[in-house]
Amino acid sequence: MEESKFESEIKFPEQHEFGRKELDIAEIEMPGLMGIREEFGPKQVLKGAKISGSLHMTIQTGALIETLHALGAELRWASCNIYSTQDHAAAAIVKKQTSKVFAWKGETLEEYWNCTNKMLTWPDYPGPDILVDDGGDATLLIHEGVKAEHHFAKTGELPDPSKFDNLEFQQVMRIIKEGLQGGLTQKWTKMAANLKGVSEETTTGVHRLNQMSAKGELLVKCINVNDCVTKSKFDNVYGCRHSLPDGIMRATDVMIAGKQVVILGYGDVGKGCAAAMKACGARVVVTECDPICALQACMEGFDVKRLESVVSTADIFVTSTGNKGIIMAHHMAQMKNNAIVGNIGHFDNEIDMAGLEAYPGISRTEIKAQVDRYVFPDGHGVIILAQGRLLNLGCATGHPSFVMSCSFANQALAQIDLWENRDTNKYENGKVYKLPKELDEKVARLHLPALNAELTELSQEQADYIDVKVEGPFKHEEYRY
Ligand code: NAD
Ligand code: ADE
Repeated sequence: MEESKFESEIKFPEQHEFGRKELDIAEIEMPGLMGIREEFGPKQVLKGAKISGSLHMTIQTGALIETLHALGAELRWASCNIYSTQDHAAAAIVKKQTSKVFAWKGETLEEYWNCTNKMLTWPDYPGPDILVDDGGDATLLIHEGVKAEHHFAKTGELPDPSKFDNLEFQQVMRIIKEGLQGGLTQKWTKMAANLKGVSEETTTGVHRLNQMSAKGELLVKCINVNDCVTKSKFDNVYGCRHSLPDGIMRATDVMIAGKQVVILGYGDVGKGCAAAMKACGARVVVTECDPICALQACMEGFDVKRLESVVSTADIFVTSTGNKGIIMAHHMAQMKNNAIVGNIGHFDNEIDMAGLEAYPGISRTEIKAQVDRYVFPDGHGVIILAQGRLLNLGCATGHPSFVMSCSFANQALAQIDLWENRDTNKYENGKVYKLPKELDEKVARLHLPALNAELTELSQEQADYIDVKVEGPFKHEEYRY
């Protein structure tokens, strides 16, 4: 077995000291993760667990990795986006050997999927025992691998990447094909059989899992971390409220006040984005397909319009729908000169980048890394952030530590639960579960002292009156916050 296959692959190992200084600061801002280290570290609750992670390799993720390591786990990590790695974070983790890391900022698609493959491939072991996934790419690779191996066993046919239009899917098929050609005919089947569970970070990844579960195609047990209240109602809202303006400003330095900004999608992420732009002094317009979210936007004082109504007057466009085909090339052709177009949703299919690249007579100038100006034949241009990939992580450093501490405390609790229940029947393969509300409240509780918050205690009489326990949970399952 060639040793190099299992070593870390990062770009700037010399940046480890900078990474470690930022990780030290992050720990102070991440009371959720530090509380979990304190409570579960001495018991080594993850001892023996091999964890693979596909999640933006940032400083905050470094703190998650080192929490899982402090609980006894062995780790391999890759980023879930080609532009989101902070190279100094990767360097600090590799230097301390708390995880193997396969990630750098500015990967090609081919490199990205090679890194994902290496993160999932454990030396002399079938694969990860548990997986942290963000967006579902690692879960997808395993499931497509299993399908292709079954097909190969039956027919002897290899997958043909060229049959697929989607460039990412071509890479998925390439990886699987290369494995089969190299004689690994059971790699993904054995990996899926060994996998005790997946905890999924984001809305789009959970959507993918639910679809697979409904079709009966999901092979593993999954925990939906996104829908913890202390994740989606904090990271998606307040995280984006912080990191959207950060990304736009670092990329363009444009004055946001006075500008017309269109936020496409007013879910959790869109709510944070619209609030941030309003706070910057922008005139905010929202697009929505859901009448409830549209009405919420109106009640917050935003105009709700169709894209077509504002496409030629607005200055900045941000997609946050988790849907595809939101801003098309013909829309960008109608925009003002130097309109800024970016996406904060998980995948790069919200903005029609392929259509833009293929637009007759279009030319592209790179202003700097992750900022490009596309000029139409009539001479007007649009400024595209992070090539249509999530701009807060491509053009800035994503959400700050405090809010990621909430998200990642839920991740750590999900990983512990999956590992501790690996041999029980608490979770069933093929199903997607949420963490109990007690844990959600615990995560929130861990963050209150840092903000000097004083929690009111219920008397027994009050608790009985509203039908809850004195120690919580304080809301019924259907409560929407
Ligand atoms: P959500 O479901 O709460 O919100 C999406 C909204 O978009 C919904 O209200 C939906 O009605 C609306 N929508 C769908 N199609 C539309 C269309 N064609 N036009 C207008 N509106 C449309 O999801 P969310 O939690 O807000 O997440 C949105 C995306 O952001 C997902 O891809 C998620 O994975 C991602 N995300 C990114 C970050 C980040 O840091 N960049 C953080 C969290 C989530
Ligand atoms: N998602 C959004 N911001 C992030 C960050 N800073 N680290 C990891 N994942 C993120």
